[in-house]
Order: sequence, then structure tokens, then C-alpha cells
Amino acid sequence: MLRVSVQRAARATLGAAGPARRAPGAGWAVSATRAALSTQASTGDNVRYFKIYRWDPEVPGQKPYTSTYPVDLDECGPMVLDALIKIKAEQEPGLTFRRSCREGICGSCAMNINGTNTLACLCYITPPGEEKVSDKPVTINPLPHMYVIKDLVPDMTNFYDQYRSIKPWLQTKSEHDLTQEHLQTQVDRKKLDGMYECILCACCSTSCPSYWWNADSYLGPAVLMQAYRWIQDSRDDMRQERLEALDDAFKLYRCHTIMNCSKTCPKHLNPGKAIGEIKKAIADAH
Ligand code: SF4
Ligand code: SF4
Ligand code: FES
Repeated sequence: MLRVSVQRAARATLGAAGPARRAPGAGWAVSATRAALSTQASTGDNVRYFKIYRWDPEVPGQKPYTSTYPVDLDECGPMVLDALIKIKAEQEPGLTFRRSCREGICGSCAMNINGTNTLACLCYITPPGEEKVSDKPVTINPLPHMYVIKDLVPDMTNFYDQYRSIKPWLQTKSEHDLTQEHLQTQVDRKKLDGMYECILCACCSTSCPSYWWNADSYLGPAVLMQAYRWIQDSRDDMRQERLEALDDAFKLYRCHTIMNCSKTCPKHLNPGKAIGEIKKAIADAH
């Protein structure tokens, strides 16, 4: 797969041949060399501009750049995803991003909006309470420090491989009658609250400095919280084995409790706390 490489801002102008990642921070990774303003005129009074990261691997030698598009908010839904869909429909059919449910369930529209990782479908263009249309453009980039496939689409291969590595399914040692429900008490079920709701959008992992620098070896907050979700499941018989598998200097202990992950989660979950609970469970088991 052809990938763009933007590990550091200084390398952001690499072409399609140089593998690296999108780096975090204002102005990161996006080369302004081809910044462009859409020529599509917008006549309404309620216009907001959207400055969007663009890169097409199929254009030989193209470097990442940003394009700015005007959107008349009087003719657009309230969310950033509404604006992206409108821009794609009316101005730039080639603009590429993922989306599906448009209600914060599928996790596919995760991107960096105005410097924060979030879901475009849950992110208001004008946050409630703010009436005035801002002169500042809404800046939209792919999730930071991920390889970019095209425009706002990050390559999630490593993330899903890491998710697969924690065996995210129920494992039992004894036979169970699969025609019967596998019950747990209400108290045990409650232990999964705050974890089962995770939609694996990767906003948390890609906001974590430890994950930026060690994505190949550190599992990151999203995957670690999912690991803990199975460790905490009263029906699972592999708690000990799961803890042993995580007891690793890189997989788990790259977390330095910076808590960016919990701050950014668009579902208001707390992966940083789950990581702390895993560390405690491992310490108790020793
Ligand atoms: S914990 Fe939150 S931010 Fe992280 S993957 Fe799950 S839903 Fe997304
Ligand atoms: S608490 Fe751990 S996982 Fe979360 S951002 Fe900090 S280092 Fe990353
Ligand atoms: S489109 Fe599904 S979470 Fe945004």
C-alpha cells in the first residue's frame, strides 16, 4: 500500500515514496505549499471555512497540502460531518473520509478537528451556546501519527492487529451448552460499564504521546481498555493468562498516566483508569 509519511513536520513535505506518519500539533505535518481556497462562491451571511488536509497517493509526487472550503451554515447540518458531506457533494467529490452511522456508534469518522481528536458526526461546527459564526476556519486533519491512506483516512491496520492480539472474545476452559445463555450477575455485569461502550474509534490511542512514539510495541489506551474489559468479565476463564500476556515493559508499561486518552474520548470513557486497574491487578497477582 502506498503511504504518505509525515512523522515530523520537517518531513511533512515528503512525497508518496517516503513512509512516515502524521505528527501531532498545530500545523503539524500539513504542508502549506499547496494550500488552496475553493473557488466555489458562497453568498450567505453565515459562511464558515473548513481547512482540510489533502493528499492523494495516486497523484505522482504530490505532497500533503491543505484546501479551504466555504460552507453556508444556513444550508448545512450542525455537525462537522454534515459540512464534510456537503463539501464532497457540492465542491470536491474527491475529498475522502470515512463515515457510516453519523451518530457516534461506528467510530469511523474519527479525525482531528481544531486540534482535538474526535468524531466528526458528534462535533458541532458551532458549539451550543456560541452564536456568532467564527472567522476562524475549522481545521480538519487525519488522526495524528497514523499512516495516511488518502486525505482524512488513516491506516488502521496496526490498531486492528493490536486489538486482535488481546483476543477480544470470551474464552472458557470448560464446555458450555451453546444453546443456553451464559449468565452473569448484575453486579458482575456492571463491572463492564464504561468499557463495553467503546467504539474503537482510536481517538484516545492517537492522542497518547507514548503511542505516537511506540505504536509498534505499546498497545495504547483503546486496546488496553478492551483487554481489561475481558479481564473483568466474570464469564471469562483466562483472566490470569490475559494479565500475564500484558505484563510487558512495552505493551503496557509505556503508559505514563498522562491521561490525554481519557480527556479526548468522544464517548466520555476513561481508558487511562482501565490501564491503572490492569497495572494494579498485575501487581496484586505477584
Ligand atoms: S476509549 Fe473512547 S476514544 Fe478510545 S477507542 Fe474507545 S471510544 Fe474511542
Ligand atoms: S494515560 Fe497512558 S494511555 Fe492515556 S494518554 Fe497517558 S500515557 Fe497514553
Ligand atoms: S459516522 Fe459513525 S461514529 Fe461518526
